[in-house]
Amino acid sequence: MDVKPLGPALGAEIRGIDLSSGVDDAAFPAILDVWLEHCLLLFRGQRLDEPALVAFSRRFGPLEAPPASERRRRGEAGSAVCPEVWIISNVVEDGEAIGSLGAGEAEWHTDMSYIEAPPSASLLYAKQVPPAGGDTHFANMYQALDDMPAPLRAEIAGRRARHDASYTSAGDLRQGAEQVADPSKASGCQHPIERTHPGSGRQALYLGRRQNGYIAGLDLAASERLLDQLWAHCTQEAFVYQHRWRPGDLLVWDNRCTIHRRDAFDSTARRIMLRTQVTGNRPN
Ligand code: OGA
Ligand code: MN
Repeated sequence: MDVKPLGPALGAEIRGIDLSSGVDDAAFPAILDVWLEHCLLLFRGQRLDEPALVAFSRRFGPLEAPPASERRRRGEAGSAVCPEVWIISNVVEDGEAIGSLGAGEAEWHTDMSYIEAPPSASLLYAKQVPPAGGDTHFANMYQALDDMPAPLRAEIAGRRARHDASYTSAGDLRQGAEQVADPSKASGCQHPIERTHPGSGRQALYLGRRQNGYIAGLDLAASERLLDQLWAHCTQEAFVYQHRWRPGDLLVWDNRCTIHRRDAFDSTARRIMLRTQVTGNRPN
């Protein structure tokens, strides 16, 4: 196994492993260590079907079902169907979208932070990618917290944020959700803004997503102002790695200490990705 960092902010490529044949118990702890240190893993040139992706994903822990609001979607005609796998795709077959998130931009977020115990890891495998666009960007939330100006950090000390569930990262209202008029009155789970990563013991900034975010105990205007400052800070280039996808790429990211976003791409191109998510703990 060969480890090559992806850049100064976060991420490492692991070479020399074929995930389709399974990873044995002796090899996995080393992979886990690299993941905990670098927050994001890249494996290139993999040939994974749904059962193989599920099997490798399970090495990171029990799997979480895809977002309840986004029924699995059917995937490509003739593809295997594992209920743990969520299809991320813009492809439409027979007038029906085979997956979620379309071809538009997806805003900065961490996955499913609106539930009590959000996923620790997400795995995203590229089956087919557009010739341009659709890059996924990741930002390191340990570094964002470590480099935060002291006055800003003092403002979040001991505070919790509400994580609204009504919209997807692509800006679509989820099935069954109601539009939010006042984020301070919306429902949704609250989590500490600084969380302790259970694997590393380090503190990371944990914001979820900007849309309808709310910092508990502040009036709405103060919450909006502080959230804007925090988001402007944590999405600076210095904390970011940009991933240009190739078919056969598998990324594994740590939702507890990273955020991600996706660029838009040509909606007439085909992008087909398989996603799984690993059950996490309640942030503290
Ligand atoms: C996700 C996600 C972005 C992408 O799978 O959670 O945000 O690049 N995907 O498709
Ligand atoms: Mn996501």
